[in-house]
Amino acid sequence: MSETATGFTGREASARALWRLDSGAAYLNHGGFGATPGEVLDARAALADRIEAAPGPFFTHDYPALLRAAADAVAAWLGADGHDLVFVDNATAAVNAVLRSFPLRPGDEILVTTTTYGAVRNTARFAAAAAGARVAEAVLPFAPDDAGAVVRAVEAAVTPRTRLAVIDHVVSETALVLPVAELAGRLSARGVAVLVDGAHAPGQVPLAIPAIGADWYAANLHKWAFAPRSCGVLWAAAQRQEGLVPPVVSWGWGQGFTAAFDWVGTRDPTPWLAAPAGIAAHTRLGGPRLMAENRRRAAAAVRMLEEAWGVRAPVVPETMTGAMRLVPLPDDGLAADRASADALRRRLWQEFRVEVPVLALEGRLWVRPAAQAYTTPDDVRRLAAAVGRIAR
Ligand SMILES: Cc1ncc(COP(=O)(O)O)c(C=O)c1O
Repeated sequence: MSETATGFTGREASARALWRLDSGAAYLNHGGFGATPGEVLDARAALADRIEAAPGPFFTHDYPALLRAAADAVAAWLGADGHDLVFVDNATAAVNAVLRSFPLRPGDEILVTTTTYGAVRNTARFAAAAAGARVAEAVLPFAPDDAGAVVRAVEAAVTPRTRLAVIDHVVSETALVLPVAELAGRLSARGVAVLVDGAHAPGQVPLAIPAIGADWYAANLHKWAFAPRSCGVLWAAAQRQEGLVPPVVSWGWGQGFTAAFDWVGTRDPTPWLAAPAGIAAHTRLGGPRLMAENRRRAAAAVRMLEEAWGVRAPVVPETMTGAMRLVPLPDDGLAADRASADALRRRLWQEFRVEVPVLALEGRLWVRPAAQAYTTPDDVRRLAAAVGRIAR
């Protein structure tokens, strides 16, 4: 069977020219920090030139309306209203704003899961400790048979003290797409406020934020929505906007949700203002079709690696997969700890110019390749061969 039939479109090599990635490298880590198309970097540079031509007039006269127009455009793309959306540096900042603003009382619980992103878990611990509250953890199945298994695991961890739950939309380590709308519905019905961590979602999976029914949605645009780094957003339901403290308190404080976040001191606003250019690039590359293609490319990569290494990736429902997948490395005596994972990732880059996240999970090592419009079958073959050489 040809690779086109198995999941690649044949357009990947030409799409690669739209990015400025190292042409000698196989870049299989779009999920890590994103990779910005050249046209978006140019749009950002044009904005920077405009600012430098007259910084005072730009920030004084032009910036407030330009920022709101960018927020409106991003919100519309996410099915939301610009009044409910603010820019932040990244998903971590958005999560910090919510968790550190939430009125926790001693004895309250913040519910996270076993696969909550480490930095987010730290934020939950920090916020809980400051209030005399605690962090509880729902144990999620590593490879669920169905989305209901995740819902049941989260529900089982809710107690009368659970005030707020942090739910991943796309899990970092396992790359699973969680049933966030179902989870938000169940948690809300039990009086638990819901923060969705959508760091990996916009541009990777179809998304209409208000339809999820969460209280807050934290996300990155610099990963899958092609915005320049660093560009995050925080959406808050109307009834959750009052009292939300931005990561930096500045002039807009006390003047409402968007005013408080729109001015957080003098900074480089070009990643935020160029976010609509990222969305335009995503749309031109196919929008929803691109997301579906990337899911198929990722599935094809899984099959290629399974065959090359003689391994089996976890079998999970297709509805829970996106453009990143977890594949076990061949069990060739590689130690399964974090230090070995880091060392292997470094070798893959330094010796083979292959970039891919390497993780130590469940007592073995895994890679988590991501597929993007520019990912070719050759990139995957290079990863397969490099691991084969190292493991030998
Ligand atoms: C689930 C999840 N949450 C939060 C983050 C943090 O993103 P950032 O470092 O851009 O704030 C990541 C980063 O990959 C993530 O995967």
